Amino acid sequence: MPKLVVKNRNGDVFTVDAQNGLSVMENIRDLDASVDAICGGLCSCATCHVFIAADMQQERLHPRTHEESSMLENSPHFDADRSRLSCQIITSDQLDGLELEVAPSDF
Ligand code: FES
Repeated sequence: MPKLVVKNRNGDVFTVDAQNGLSVMENIRDLDASVDAICGGLCSCATCHVFIAADMQQERLHPRTHEESSMLENSPHFDADRSRLSCQIITSDQLDGLELEVAPSDF
């Protein structure tokens, strides 16, 4: 069971025992001050926006898809190096120790 290290919007840090096969969004959305995930993971709202360091992404994650990038680039908090949609990342053992930060709300 991989552990995700999550900093929420209040700056609190949680270690989450994540379930493989679920998206990262599904594993973190119930935390206090976490992602809103309004569309439920359909890649159509960008309210599951998180920041993940570029080097950590290169080691552990697939690159952003065009669809994911299009959603993120509309956010005023878009960071070309660190922004990801947490609903588009499927949890696996490869993510153990992944550090991520919930992006500020766009609303
Ligand atoms: S939950 Fe809506 S884009 Fe991720």
